[in-house]
Amino acid sequence: MTDTFNPATAFRLDNRACVVTGGGSGIGRAIAFGLARAGGRVHLVDRNTEALAQTRAAMAAEHLDAVTHTADVTDQAAISAAFDAVAARDGAIYGLVNNAGIAIRRPATELAESDWDKVVGVNLTGVFLCARTAARQMLAAKTGAIVNMSSIMGLSGGGLYPNISYQTTKGAVVNLTRALAVEWAPYNVRVNAVAPTWVNTDFIRPLLDNPELVARMQAVTPLGRVAEPEEIVGAVLFLLSPAAAMVTGHTLPVDGGFLAQ
Ligand SMILES: NC(=O)c1ccc[n+]([C@@H]2O[C@H](COP(=O)([O-])OP(=O)(O)OC[C@H]3O[C@@H](n4cnc5c(N)ncnc54)[C@H](O)[C@@H]3O)[C@@H](O)[C@H]2O)c1
Repeated sequence: MTDTFNPATAFRLDNRACVVTGGGSGIGRAIAFGLARAGGRVHLVDRNTEALAQTRAAMAAEHLDAVTHTADVTDQAAISAAFDAVAARDGAIYGLVNNAGIAIRRPATELAESDWDKVVGVNLTGVFLCARTAARQMLAAKTGAIVNMSSIMGLSGGGLYPNISYQTTKGAVVNLTRALAVEWAPYNVRVNAVAPTWVNTDFIRPLLDNPELVARMQAVTPLGRVAEPEEIVGAVLFLLSPAAAMVTGHTLPVDGGFLAQ
């Protein structure tokens, strides 16, 4: 057998339409830079128009392009319109990063049902709606790759603070990833997930502002620190890229060893 693996091309996404939800800030923004540098035609979907504009401007300053779409991932009509616009401009969506997410950290006995519904809506239903909307293009094209953003909180009971709706949805994303991977494998569409540890973004700013809590995060992480957003990008790029052509249904922790204990 000839060895055809070439790392210079295996991790490239040249001219492939890639959508990042929650691309306006934090991890999604870092992913946007990474996918653009890998040659992808990057489209950012976020409900925050201002954040989208800031990310697009920051990318333009580095000579990287991104098209922005203001849409809420829980709004099927808005997602359909945005994904149609992606296809009209750059062809069928090849890569989808389901990254938009929220948390409402409350003890389970005190969490309002409406707050439970909000978290389930964005973190679980939003992932499902975006995945199937993109997949309608991918299945027809017989190619595509989806990466869902789970969390170490989807693979453990957490424990440093109560976060029941978040933990439940991030765990559900792990099995949604498996089930969609199996359903869409016959169409050469791969579905994987990434499960980051705590990442230095505004998402966990109130936690990071508490030195005692940060010390506990460090203590339960073998590598002894929280991650930077840029440290999540490589795993996402790998799973989207041709280098991962035989990988589907997998959840890849990027966790400094948290889950190895
Ligand atoms: N930061 C962490 O410690 C951490 C750890 C593990 C997993 N994650 C996951 O990574 C993802 C990104 O987190 P982050 O830290 O970058 O958060 P962030 O708050 O910095 O960014 C999230 C982005 O998603 C957007 N968004 C939220 N709800 C939306 C909706 N309904 N429709 C469209 N856009 C919406 C926000 O406007 C924001 O731009 C989330 O799914 C989060 O659960 C984060």
